[in-house]
Amino acid sequence: MKSIQTSKVFQKNTILTSDNRCRNIDIINNSICKRKLLIDENGNEFCFYCSTIAAEDKEIKDSAEKALENEDVHKLMSAFKKKSLMNKDLHEATLDKYYPQNESQDVALETVKTYINEFDCERGLVLQGKPGLGKSHLASAIVKELIKKKYSGIFISLPRLMTELKATYNRKSALQEVEVLSALQNVNVLVLDDLGVEIDGKKDDAAAWAKGKIYEVVDSRVGKSTIYTTNFTAKQLIELYGERDFSRMVQYCDSIKIEGKNYRFKKFS
Ligand SMILES: Nc1ncnc2c1ncn2[C@@H]1O[C@H](COP(=O)(O)OP(=O)(O)OP(=O)(O)O)[C@@H](O)[C@H]1O
Ligand SMILES: [Mg+2]
Ligand SMILES: [Zn+2]
Repeated sequence: MKSIQTSKVFQKNTILTSDNRCRNIDIINNSICKRKLLIDENGNEFCFYCSTIAAEDKEIKDSAEKALENEDVHKLMSAFKKKSLMNKDLHEATLDKYYPQNESQDVALETVKTYINEFDCERGLVLQGKPGLGKSHLASAIVKELIKKKYSGIFISLPRLMTELKATYNRKSALQEVEVLSALQNVNVLVLDDLGVEIDGKKDDAAAWAKGKIYEVVDSRVGKSTIYTTNFTAKQLIELYGERDFSRMVQYCDSIKIEGKNYRFKKFS
């Protein structure tokens, strides 16, 4: 629309054409433009195609590409939402519903708040500690806060991700494995919940397959924010994944160690 209007204005005001032809690279067709140049009211030559039409086309093309890149993420986010991949008890998990029970939990909450305020799409976190200390609660609260700030975010437990990936091998699957992997690569913040559980105690080939998939995701996200929660210590994780893969996972992560009593037992005490 805009170029048609501009073109009318231009026809009214400019009648002079130059004998010279445009020698720009036509960014849309990737060849020398060669269109006849026009002369504006100040006597300067210009190419109407390059200065107006191609520039607008490029803008449209760029925004279409951006939308396509985000499409995978949105498709996966809504597919995951439908299947409600988050445990029910985490639906309610927000920052203001996290009640620290000791100093390590005070520190965890403050660190998480700072992380959200200073979110840069690059740094990640490792939340480590025994069961029921609110690691998944805090990680899921981070995703919710960042989505409020218009970032894209996906929370998925690793055992669940493995199941979902296997399900994509079924021909009737609505999602393809490449779509899942591309969404996990492109999302601004990815929570991989329960690191270690998906390979601990698994048979060799199942563990090797899972390790390979996780490495693929982690490797594709170098320089992007990934948050891990885990019951395992760093030493145990090195044993499970090997030093090379583990160090790659956590190289851009700050670590939060949470201690205390299992909150799931709170009503029994
Ligand atoms: N400090 C807390 N304040 C409020 N709720 C909490 C707190 N800690 C844990 N919870 C709640 O307790 C339940 C268990 O917490 P969560 O799932 O985050 O534990 P976790 O550390 O991820 O445990 P696991 O290692 O077993 O996965 C959740 O319903 C969570 O909302
Ligand atoms: Mg958890
Ligand atoms: Zn031109």
